[in-house]
Amino acid sequence: FTLAPSATIGGGTVGGGVYELLTRRISSPLACIKKICVRDLQKTRDFTVDPTCTLTDSLDDVLNDETLNCIVEVMGGTGIAKDVVLRALSSGKHVVTANKALIAEHLGEIQKAIGEAEGSPSFAYEAAVCGAIPIINTLQSCYSGDNITSVMGICNGTTNFMLCKMEDGADYGEVLKEAQDLGFAEADPTADVEGHDVRAKISILAKLAYGVTVPITSIPTTGISSITSVDFEYAKSMNCTIKLIGTAARTSEHGEHDGPLTVYVAPKMVPTSHVMGGVGGAGNAVAVTSANMGLAAYTGPGAGRYPTANSIVADVMRIANGNQGPAFPKTASLKLSTDYESSFYI
Ligand code: NAP
Ligand code: HSE
Repeated sequence: FTLAPSATIGGGTVGGGVYELLTRRISSPLACIKKICVRDLQKTRDFTVDPTCTLTDSLDDVLNDETLNCIVEVMGGTGIAKDVVLRALSSGKHVVTANKALIAEHLGEIQKAIGEAEGSPSFAYEAAVCGAIPIINTLQSCYSGDNITSVMGICNGTTNFMLCKMEDGADYGEVLKEAQDLGFAEADPTADVEGHDVRAKISILAKLAYGVTVPITSIPTTGISSITSVDFEYAKSMNCTIKLIGTAARTSEHGEHDGPLTVYVAPKMVPTSHVMGGVGGAGNAVAVTSANMGLAAYTGPGAGRYPTANSIVADVMRIANGNQGPAFPKTASLKLSTDYESSFYI
């Protein structure tokens, strides 16, 4: 094992969790956090930074530090975060990120930076989709000899948490605030409630499952902000519940699932008996249908400090062990359907 001196850019919900896991919960660390970069040094942190680690507000202090070989980007956003990731990769540093918006919007530039960098840096992003569920590595490693026809899932913890509570009569604004306080929501929770976060995630899953680059602007997206108690009553009368679902599925043209790909995000009626109908709290679930396996479902915590940090730490450790991050497949020739084939039901 090699010790990987690392830094986190971000010391909030996820960054604090990564630091805590790597310093307090792992007895024989393969990696250690030497620097944590934050925006505001005066802010009170909900974790203790040891004297062996420097808290800084200077990105240059981290990115120009040649002793660091792995950067964990957990600051969020697609502006400065993009520069951070590209600079780190260009200087040969490995990058681990939880930033699905960044990957979905700027994958091309990220891949270019990886390709041009000296020393083949790794780029790993297990935490970017469905928090603790290892869906990125699963799609990469377990389906290479299979043919996926559908990926659909609950990919946002905030909205699942909200929908579960709203079904029991809770107020929309109050449960959103609760989800924010628990660290599930994005800095701007519009991304959660309007489905933009799921849109980014399903675009990444579509890339992994089919090799197709699906621009987020081409994904029809409806969030949960217009769902009311009447919708839940209607769902209940049919033994269903309501979940926000991201879908990337092959359509059927001449035979079974041989047509173009349909990708969209929308709230759906899900039978309470279905594996996705039983997902509570900030849980997530992904159902993958493939030629060899049939239907396989993956469920687990989808957001929150330690579930997300766990996926990041696993990526850092894989890198410390000399493994590359999961490569994005080359662009496939599969067409993207221009028809929005949606249904109220899964
Ligand atoms: P957060 O709690 O808001 O933390 C963001 C951190 O980044 C803060 O420590 C902030 O510093 C720092 N930061 C922001 N701008 C900066 C800048 N210009 N320079 C230096 N530091 C800067 O956010 P989070 O919930 O940890 O989420 C971080 C990322 O993980 C996002 O991409 C998010 O989508 C992703 N993610 C989050 C979860 C989750 O459950 N929360 C799950 C999966 C993925 P200050 O503390 O000084 O403000
Ligand atoms: N805001 C996101 C969610 C964080 O609620 O699922 C995890 O990606």
